[in-house]
Amino acid sequence: MSDGGIRVPGDKSITHRALMLAALASGPCRLGGALAAGDTRATAAALRALGVAVGPLADGRAVRVAGGGLRPFREPGRVLDCRNSGTTARLLLGLLAGHAFEAALTGDRSLRRRPMGRITEPLRLMGAEIAATRGERLPARIRGGGLRPLTWASPVASAQVKTALFFAGLAGGVSVTVTEPFHSRDHAERLLRLLGVHVDADGTTTTVHPPESIAPFEGDVPGDYSSAAYLLGAGLLARGGAVVVEGVGINPTRTGFGRVLERMGARVEVQGRWMSLGEPAATLVARPTALRATEVMPEEVPSLVDEVPLLACLAARAEGTSVFHGVGELRVKESDRLALVASNLAGLGVDARAEGDTLWVTGSDRTLRGRVVTARDHRLAMAFAVLGTAPGAEFELDDAKCVEVSYPGFFRDLRRALGVA
Ligand code: S3P
Repeated sequence: MSDGGIRVPGDKSITHRALMLAALASGPCRLGGALAAGDTRATAAALRALGVAVGPLADGRAVRVAGGGLRPFREPGRVLDCRNSGTTARLLLGLLAGHAFEAALTGDRSLRRRPMGRITEPLRLMGAEIAATRGERLPARIRGGGLRPLTWASPVASAQVKTALFFAGLAGGVSVTVTEPFHSRDHAERLLRLLGVHVDADGTTTTVHPPESIAPFEGDVPGDYSSAAYLLGAGLLARGGAVVVEGVGINPTRTGFGRVLERMGARVEVQGRWMSLGEPAATLVARPTALRATEVMPEEVPSLVDEVPLLACLAARAEGTSVFHGVGELRVKESDRLALVASNLAGLGVDARAEGDTLWVTGSDRTLRGRVVTARDHRLAMAFAVLGTAPGAEFELDDAKCVEVSYPGFFRDLRRALGVA
């Protein structure tokens, strides 16, 4: 077990947003603690292809971005490859909607199967021309400029949709109001307020008013709660000791995992809070716990959407049957996570099934054997790697390299957390 704390890499969602907003600032910006991983490198590379000077993303080194004002891009000389990153693709479409030139976007196989209609439809209403030939999926071409203000009721609670539309408003110089069915992560709103942009919020309706400029800024990205969750999960399943993770962002729109764990009988201790880039951060501590099953309700899913595979793996070691309601969004993540969580757990001997947008997992302490199919999905790999540390787990993953998308040092940190490094 770790006694000194482990520091997880910077928050992925905040890194994407901070890089893009730095590009829109009216001068040089500096970001400490930015995530250096596949997804955020895709954002940095796309910004560079659009003419913004972005320094290298490297661990332990601040990244500098030469902000060029609210419409900083110039026409790219090549197709923008968003690789595996849905956040890159959607947020970039938003920014490009404010620019009066044509750009083409694509991604890897996983990203090319993910729905973009949730963002292309409102962007078209604002006045952007978007051509996506494969049923509102990438590859797509966008020609922006001349935008109208937007009031949009999003059918999905998605921070990517909300943020993309706000970003279109910033670059297009128009106000944007988004209503979502449930609260999704509010990193963009926090950062915008910190930068002096006028943001109104009333329940799940948020309006971003266009600023005249965004002043250059600097700050430190807190550690990623979703990455920390894996180490904390390993701490809960372990036989002894404590896992301590330092400097983790604890924005309440992200910490549904901790609230669900409390219902499962576990407590993630929060020590020494502070603020960074408008976000609360703290040290988190998890200790071995006998877990009991719980029910997760649709309205709490956005606050733990990336942690469902991990919670399902923890539920496989809890007493009773856990039910996850309203988790259909998992079918359109980097893989069909709902189907793969259920089939992988079942393949290991766990009583688990997914139907529609519901997932059931019955816990046991039986020996888990087999081979997990990760479908190159980083969150499936990390969730099952955590389950693999539980007593009585004797299975392997078919591919572990995909963790590089969000957490390149994951296996090293997992070993450290368990005191076997
Ligand atoms: C993200 C929002 C979530 C999350 C993803 C990152 C973001 O996606 O699953 O990993 O940075 O806005 P949705 O907005 O599609 O729910």
